[in-house]
Amino acid sequence: MIYSLEVAILAAGSGSRMRSKKPKVLQTLAGQPLLWHLLQTVDQLDPEMIHVVVGEHETEIRNHFEGRTNVNWIRQKNPMGTGDAMQKVVPHLLTNSRVIVLLGDAPLVRKETMAALLAHKGDLVILTTIVSDPTGYGRIVRKAGEISEIVEEKDASASQRGIKEINTGVMAADSERLKEWIKRLDNNNVQREYLLTDLVKIAKEDGANISSNEVSNQFEVKGVNTFSQLAKLERALQKNKAELLMEAGVQIMDPSRLDVRGNLQAGKNVFLDINVVFEGEVSLGNNVVIGPNCIISDSQIGDGSFIKANSVLEGAIVGEDCSVGPFARLRPGAVLGDQCSVGNFVEVKKSELGKGSKANHLAYLGDSSVGEGANIGAGTITCNYDGSSKSRTEIGSNAFIGSNTSLVAPVSVGDGATVGAGSTITKDVKPGDLAIERSTQKTISNWKRPPKKD
Ligand code: UD1
Ligand code: MG
Repeated sequence: MIYSLEVAILAAGSGSRMRSKKPKVLQTLAGQPLLWHLLQTVDQLDPEMIHVVVGEHETEIRNHFEGRTNVNWIRQKNPMGTGDAMQKVVPHLLTNSRVIVLLGDAPLVRKETMAALLAHKGDLVILTTIVSDPTGYGRIVRKAGEISEIVEEKDASASQRGIKEINTGVMAADSERLKEWIKRLDNNNVQREYLLTDLVKIAKEDGANISSNEVSNQFEVKGVNTFSQLAKLERALQKNKAELLMEAGVQIMDPSRLDVRGNLQAGKNVFLDINVVFEGEVSLGNNVVIGPNCIISDSQIGDGSFIKANSVLEGAIVGEDCSVGPFARLRPGAVLGDQCSVGNFVEVKKSELGKGSKANHLAYLGDSSVGEGANIGAGTITCNYDGSSKSRTEIGSNAFIGSNTSLVAPVSVGDGATVGAGSTITKDVKPGDLAIERSTQKTISNWKRPPKKD
């Protein structure tokens, strides 16, 4: 009788084919580690336990997933193949559980595919797929339709190499059977490794029923061994995300030039130009336009706003009908009210701009608050940092800050006040007042420039 579900994820390989210091399962796909994708998916199956086999990078990997309580990290000291990895798992398995085995480097297997495999009857159920180019994968060898063995590329004969049905690496079996079969693996193969795929032969010897489930969507079972494969999988995943967005009504100028590394929520009638990157949690209201080459992370953009070319937004909230960019930078804590305008080479950090306020060119607004309808001239800087601590600048509604003004914080400019261009403001300006701080202009009439020397 089977009571529970357990998951085994094999992730101890060093990823030698990538020649990278980073462990393979921490390489990222759509901004998240390969292993993160698998854990996200298996969580939805609500397993009793997720056993993850890790190798020399154990600490680095565990640190990355700190706080997870449903993972049993198992150390494989000298990785000697996928069979050896599974051998490390079996002592941890419960009695009479159903176990699904996944490979840490095949991260996009869908929940539905896993559930179908688990629902499939058989003592050993293998997930397979047909590919046009099977290079590098284990081949499914069948006799009279039944799986007789899985042969790894290196061990395969020339004719076996021609087989296009491959092992995805995903399989399911009962814990009691696995405990028994794993003991009988050997390393009599070209790789001198213990191959999990040899379970097929062993199960056969026991007269066990071996069956397979075929997945038609190859992209979800693609394994990642090299950076080239990682890049291809990234593209396939991004293309898929773009298709889903377009189905939901988002207009995308070129789906092959869009990257969504996280979750993107989009309203109606949204247009995305080329080379846009979204990271983390981003939401776009209705009628939002994102110009080319924008990077938008963890931000919310209200209805009707236009983010123009080459703008970078991080942790920002943009109201409705705003214009941002081109070349604007909104940093964490930037909050724009409705109808604001933040133009080229303007940086905003931890600052709120009230409705209709404008900073159209070349300004820095940090640790400040700006009322409604204010105009921030070009070259305005809130001098928020004195070398040790940060101070705030308050700018009232309908204030007018002339070009090239330094506002030395802490300082305030009241509602409707005006600051003359070129001023360095160190004292508060009362509502309605004009403050100008600049030396008197000296003029010499009819001054002759010294003649140019040759
Ligand atoms: C494996 C399968 C192959 C299948 C392919 C699908 C075996 C023998 N081969 O080949 O049939 O077509 O995946 O992608 O199973 N690992 C360990 N400990 C080890 C060795 C590997 O934990 O000692 C982990 C790796 O970290 C990796 C996974 O197991 O996440 C698969 O190992 P890998 O070396 O990538 O196997 P493939 O050659 O891709
Ligand atoms: Mg692999």
